[in-house]
Amino acid sequence: MSLIDWSNAPKFGRIAGIKGALQKLHDLCKQGEKRTIVEIGCARGDCKGSMEGDGWSTVAFGWYCSKNNGQLTTIDLSDKSIKVCKSLTANYSDCIDYVCKGSIEGLYNLREAGISVDLLYLDGSRHPANSYCEYYMIKNNLSERAIILIDDVNFDDNGKGKLVIPQLIQEGWLTNEKNNQQQMFWRK
Ligand SMILES: C[S@@+](CC[C@H](N)C(=O)[O-])C[C@H]1O[C@@H](n2cnc3c(N)ncnc32)[C@H](O)[C@@H]1O
Repeated sequence: MSLIDWSNAPKFGRIAGIKGALQKLHDLCKQGEKRTIVEIGCARGDCKGSMEGDGWSTVAFGWYCSKNNGQLTTIDLSDKSIKVCKSLTANYSDCIDYVCKGSIEGLYNLREAGISVDLLYLDGSRHPANSYCEYYMIKNNLSERAIILIDDVNFDDNGKGKLVIPQLIQEGWLTNEKNNQQQMFWRK
C-alpha cells in the first residue's frame, strides 16, 4: 500500500470521508495508472464556512488528480457554483472538466462517451431520488475497482443515501460504517 503524501494538500473539509475514499482509490490503482473521478455537486462557496460545511471536495479531488495522473469531472447545474469552483480549483484546472448541466444529463453524456469511472461522489441534490437515478445512469461505466462516496447520509431519513444505499447493499457492494456524514462503498 502506498500512502498519499498529504503534506502539501490544500485545505478541505469532510476530511475522514474524502481522505478515506482517495486513499482507497490510491490503493486500488497501480502507480502512474490513469484514474477517473466524477462528482455531482462542485465546491460552491469561497468562504471558510463553506469549506468546513460542504467539504470543498473539488479542491481535494482536483489536487489529488494533479499529483496522480487523475482526471476529475465535476457536474453542477448552477453557473454560480461552477464559477466559484473554477476559481477555487484554478491550480488544478488542467485535470478538471467543469460541466454545467443537471446531473442526469451530465452523466448521460459521460456514459455515452464510454468513460470508465473509478470514484463516484454523490453530493448534488438533497432529494434521495436524484442520487439513486445518478447511480443508475452511470452504473454500467463504474470500473471493477470503483468506489462510491455519498454525502449527507447523517439525517434521520438517511438523506441523499435513502434510496441508493439499500440498492448498493442489495447488489453486494461492500461498505464501512458511515462516518457521521458520508458513507463509502466499494467492490473489492
Ligand atoms: C452541497 S453542494 C456540493 C458541495 C461540494 N461537493 C463540496 O464539497 O464543497 C451541492 C451542489 O449540487 C448542485 N446541484 C443540486 N442539484 C443538482 C442536480 N440535480 N444536478 C447537478 N447539480 C446539482 C448545487 O448547485 C450545488 O452547487
